[in-house]
Amino acid sequence: MLIAQITDMHVSKPGKLFGKHVDSRANFERCISRVLSLNPKPDLVLLSGDLAENGKPEEYDFIVEQLKRLTCPVLAVPGNHDVREEMLGKIPQCVTAQEGGHLSFFEDRFPLRVIGLDTIVPGKVHGEICAQRLSWLRAALANGDAKPTLIAMHHPPFTTGLVGMDNYGIKNGLKEFKAIVTKHAENISAIVCGHAHRMIVANIAGVPVLLAPACSFPFELDLGEKPSLNFVQEPPQFLVHTWSERAGFVSHAAFVDEFPGPFPVL
Ligand SMILES: [Fe+2]
Repeated sequence: MLIAQITDMHVSKPGKLFGKHVDSRANFERCISRVLSLNPKPDLVLLSGDLAENGKPEEYDFIVEQLKRLTCPVLAVPGNHDVREEMLGKIPQCVTAQEGGHLSFFEDRFPLRVIGLDTIVPGKVHGEICAQRLSWLRAALANGDAKPTLIAMHHPPFTTGLVGMDNYGIKNGLKEFKAIVTKHAENISAIVCGHAHRMIVANIAGVPVLLAPACSFPFELDLGEKPSLNFVQEPPQFLVHTWSERAGFVSHAAFVDEFPGPFPVL
């Protein structure tokens, strides 16, 4: 099974450059082209939040246009820049509304079960996993057999060391989330997320946690104590996850743009 995880596209309205530098629409369009060129083709495209910059209908219209180019299923969780109602209206095939309105999903059609957990607080930058979502997750993980499972969410469930972003992390429910993961660690192959726009790896109870690099722009690698939120024009990226019974869960970082090569080594 091959999953392309695209995160933090921050698609803006036409003609708008993020911070006067980044054309997030063009980046997303090139990213979809790159995903289409993968061999083998992905079985699933996973969007882990901040699809749109301002949650506006015209931003989702462009996302819809690009997603139409794909032939595989697409699943999405919202990020802090998204608007749930717009996602439900524009990409209903990619999201599921649960009781209480959160857009979490339970997808069991693949050999790897995929659970999407909505971590947003509408109108806020930080995240939370409220009591309702914690009990939804408990039930989802207790559902059915002991199938290998991937959890996808927007906000990282760990402290990244990028203080500017950690200030906007998950403020409630993290301790309980970690306890649930610990309980089901044997069946959880990995947790994937976004939000901090850089490739970062951590773990919870031995479960790998991968923060995927952004399709739009990375934040600066600043591990100092003073909070900063600067972006840099490093190349946009996405992740390619593979799962097989033999090898388990393996992840590769991929660049959106093409570079010279491949050249034979020998
Ligand atoms: Fe983002």
